[in-house]
Amino acid sequence: MPPAIETVDLVKEYGDLRALQELSLTVEEGEFFGLLGPNGAGKTTFINTLVGLVRKTGGEARVFGYDVEDDYRQARDAIGLAPQEFNVDRFFPIREVLIHKAGYHGIPEAEAAERADEVLKRVGIYDKRDERFDWLSGGMKRRLLLARALVTDPDLLILDEPTAGVDVQLRHDLWELVTELNEEGTTVLLTTHYIEEAERLCDRVAIMNEGRKVTVATPDELKTRGTDTIAVRLESSPSAAPDLEAADYAHETTLAGDRLEVRVDDGGSTAPQLLNDLEAKGYEVADLEISRTSLEEIFVDLTRSEDRTVTRSSASNDERVAPADDRETEREQEGIV
Ligand SMILES: Nc1ncnc2c1ncn2[C@@H]1O[C@H](COP(=O)(O)OP(=O)(O)O)[C@@H](O)[C@H]1O
Ligand SMILES: [Mg+2]
Repeated sequence: MPPAIETVDLVKEYGDLRALQELSLTVEEGEFFGLLGPNGAGKTTFINTLVGLVRKTGGEARVFGYDVEDDYRQARDAIGLAPQEFNVDRFFPIREVLIHKAGYHGIPEAEAAERADEVLKRVGIYDKRDERFDWLSGGMKRRLLLARALVTDPDLLILDEPTAGVDVQLRHDLWELVTELNEEGTTVLLTTHYIEEAERLCDRVAIMNEGRKVTVATPDELKTRGTDTIAVRLESSPSAAPDLEAADYAHETTLAGDRLEVRVDDGGSTAPQLLNDLEAKGYEVADLEISRTSLEEIFVDLTRSEDRTVTRSSASNDERVAPADDRETEREQEGIV
């Protein structure tokens, strides 16, 4: 079985701006994969390349082995996309929006109607089925985007920042539902800039920054990459910090009054050694506390940009590239212009 997503040296340029830079990424079938990165990292561009809304400049992209350009239809039919922006026809009852979507992907009408009702129930807006999109609240709209992504029963579900700006209740509902779908065998690609979300849901995450893949790891592996801080309160304020130069575990030592902070790789295994060394040097310890680097701090560290403003400002509206003409129907279907 080919991977759910496989890209090799994928490049997307908008004029001078390189939105995707030689991005090689593999998502295995059945995985719950997170794409994490700050705004402008290229997450949406990556997704839009897979669904044919953005035409790649270079490299390869396949979905379940189907080339996203040469085998566009097969690749697109395998994907259910809940996009970042609302792009639903405002004038139709939402049940019809779903039936239309299913029909567009070749599902016969009776079955399409059945699927529409099923997914509306599943995301919890069946009672709104006859209402128009623009009558729904923000949270309901998010639910509808998910329903529309699910109506074709996709093997690959792509969620582009599904919980940006939604309330806690909906966020948890979405998490639960998507976890269920993944357990049922659906491959999930989720983009987010909430580290907590990635940590909670994803088997693996790729961290992106400025169109590049910074790293791919499990959330647990990421956490081991940070450093810890051991904060020691001393019985009295010494005149100088202890010299821990000989101790190769200490990356950095700072003293403020009776508070000594030592930065180490792993606090738990280093603390006993540090206590011994301090005692040997005549420092009396009153209290000790270890703080772990949060995943959030690691993320911020990994995506720190040397000069992000320069890269960003090189994009202008004039350079926006329209999708290929033969995608006209699909663009209408997805509501993207
Ligand atoms: N149609 C477009 N024309 C020009 N630049 C674009 C276009 N779409 C996205 N970009 C630029 O590409 C970069 C990546 O954007 P995007 O993929 O939306 O990032 P993310 O989803 O991670 O926030 C950004 O610098 C953005 O301004
Ligand atoms: Mg985006």
